[in-house]
Amino acid sequence: MQKQKSPVLIRETPEQRQAIINAIFVNGQRLGDADFLQTDRIVGIKVPDGFRGIVYPDSHSPYEDTGVLRAIWDFAALWQPHMAFDLGDIIDLSFLSRWPANARGGQPFSQQDEFESARRQLRQKARAGNPEKLVVIPGNHDDRVRQQISGDSAKFSRLMNGGNREFLTDVVTNLLGFDDKDKMLFAWGIGQTGGREGGVMVGDFRLRHGNYVNAKPGYAAYTHWLRQLVNIIMGHVHRAGDFAVETRSGQVARGAEVGHTFNTKSPGANYLGADNDWVHAFGVLTCVNGVVNMQVVPFLQGYDEHGRLREYATWVDADKDADNQIVEFAVQDM
Ligand SMILES: [Fe+2]
Ligand SMILES: [Fe+2]
Repeated sequence: MQKQKSPVLIRETPEQRQAIINAIFVNGQRLGDADFLQTDRIVGIKVPDGFRGIVYPDSHSPYEDTGVLRAIWDFAALWQPHMAFDLGDIIDLSFLSRWPANARGGQPFSQQDEFESARRQLRQKARAGNPEKLVVIPGNHDDRVRQQISGDSAKFSRLMNGGNREFLTDVVTNLLGFDDKDKMLFAWGIGQTGGREGGVMVGDFRLRHGNYVNAKPGYAAYTHWLRQLVNIIMGHVHRAGDFAVETRSGQVARGAEVGHTFNTKSPGANYLGADNDWVHAFGVLTCVNGVVNMQVVPFLQGYDEHGRLREYATWVDADKDADNQIVEFAVQDM
């Protein structure tokens, strides 16, 4: 079979790429100099025109959908983002859940496997398309170790690892095993809490995990906007949607819910009802004329040439040299 030529999405030279990366500032520092691994404040990121980002929502290792993630990584290889962002719930940690519904049918994974698969998943996100940095915004699931130890085993909560001087509860260094040589930045809330706090500002968008839930797509993002009056890109609800409303002052409020990359057929998703309205998706960030834009790219179902139901994401290349070529990413069976 003749191999299909892969489409060209990016028409920038290595020098142009480096110039864009050099113009990205993280809390006033050049991205290349901002080599800290973790922080517990809201990180301001200034991006120039021509900037490209990719946004990954809720993967919930070890229950991530590897087929969906691979399709997104295929897109990332073509899109060559300058930065990648993860909206949190990177790991499921259902064994630490306050709601033991997941225990139905037993735990098919060892607890160690959860961390190992989350480590592999994040390393791949940091590699796909060669972003300069992967920014991870921890979610409520990622905070479960700290919550557990500071609650039920509080006497252990102030003990530190003798080597790296991090608390034993520190997921990033002690359990996932990352250090400051990894091109990653974990943006926690105050006191390294995850879920409701932390995150980054990219242009006038706050990227955070989110906490309010609404079943109507876009309404959870709008609820966050109403409470905080800041444009938002969020995960957590596992639904895909967006909104834009002009406020009375003439400002345009914008927000997006980026879906999820969880495998809904896995044992970890056994609390989902038949009316599950979660959507596999990812997000694409661009900056044009000083305005940061967010596009949610959903995976939709369709039949392939053999009549099998498959999931597809499509991308329309709007570059003026591209003549609106459509690039399709199919989820392969694992
Ligand atoms: Fe989630
Ligand atoms: Fe969440």
